[in-house]
Amino acid sequence: MFFLKLSLLTVLIAAPGLVTSTENVITCDGNVQRLSCDIGLISVQSAVYGRTDRSVCSAGRPPSQIQNTDCIVNIPLIFERCDGQIACEFKTDTIGSPDPCVGTYKYYNTTYNCIQARISMTCEGSFSTLDCGNDVIQIISANYGRTDRAICSNGQPSSLNENTDCHAPDTLTSVVAQCNERRSCILEASNAIFTDPCVGTYKYLAVSYFCRPAQTSVTCEGSTAVLTCGVGVLKIHSANYGRTDSTTCSAGRPLRQITKTDCFATTSLSEVAKRCNDRGNCTVPATNDVFTDPCVGTYKYLSIVYSCVVNDGFLSLFQLSNESDTNR
Ligand SMILES: *[C@@H]1O[C@H](CO)[C@@H](O)[C@H](O)[C@H]1NC(C)=O
Ligand SMILES: *[C@@H]1O[C@H](CO)[C@@H](O)[C@H](O)[C@H]1NC(C)=O
Repeated sequence: MFFLKLSLLTVLIAAPGLVTSTENVITCDGNVQRLSCDIGLISVQSAVYGRTDRSVCSAGRPPSQIQNTDCIVNIPLIFERCDGQIACEFKTDTIGSPDPCVGTYKYYNTTYNCIQARISMTCEGSFSTLDCGNDVIQIISANYGRTDRAICSNGQPSSLNENTDCHAPDTLTSVVAQCNERRSCILEASNAIFTDPCVGTYKYLAVSYFCRPAQTSVTCEGSTAVLTCGVGVLKIHSANYGRTDSTTCSAGRPLRQITKTDCFATTSLSEVAKRCNDRGNCTVPATNDVFTDPCVGTYKYLSIVYSCVVNDGFLSLFQLSNESDTNR
């Protein structure tokens, strides 16, 4: 289960510019590690414990404690605690890490991005709407439970908000399924949806997300639409073969061929989805042969709104940074 969670958390992004900075923190064992973002929210990229370097955290240590530099273990808890937060901190010896090399003095090495994002907080028993307008939702983190005393506490007895270590295990998976790649979604903060992770505590649903532009492709009748993804696979949001305005694909056309602007082929989405969904690229001829003719005598075009996604809705930040590197 942790693996699923991590692959979902290793998340994100198609549009560069959402990453505001990349940070690295190394903390010698026994101290406090703090991650924070001046602008944006934390998205942990790697969090490891051990020793892979001889000189870091070596002051005053005998050689026997620093010579092993082949010692490393992943710490998923840091993703869980810090993703989607503005800041988070923990005393390293309180997080119960396994010891990957007894006798070696170790350190925590965490790399994270700060990304532009929005936060939605919904108190138990409420609904809220995430809305990206014409863009599509990408979830960064989600927790149903309680990690803060003050949020959703007004007028409640303090016994209901004392527990600040409450996490419903599958919140992220559930919120991703409900919201990712949609323009808007409605979330309900309730035990019925997420089960009750801490009976007797008043809970809330905390979600961080950002809005990612969907892409649009327009192809005049007789030509062929070519969609390609640099990274990931295509996901088709909507499609229409027909005409909904009088300017698109109008050059050189007589008026009578472009005045009808309520023309829709009913098979548009299914035909395009069939050819394109879950592929790295696809071609779709904008022709009556494919869609049948929804308005005889009108010159038509195929418009498609799509995005490129990885792992059921995610593009990874690693891939993003590789992409922007090669673009430079
Ligand atoms: C910390 O982790 C990063 C990313 O994996 C790595 O490049 C770097 O060498 C590590 N630093 C130390 C001192 O172990
Ligand atoms: C299209 O995808 C196929 C495999 O699905 C791949 O072999 C081909 O190189 C891709 N073409 C382009 C132009 O990306």
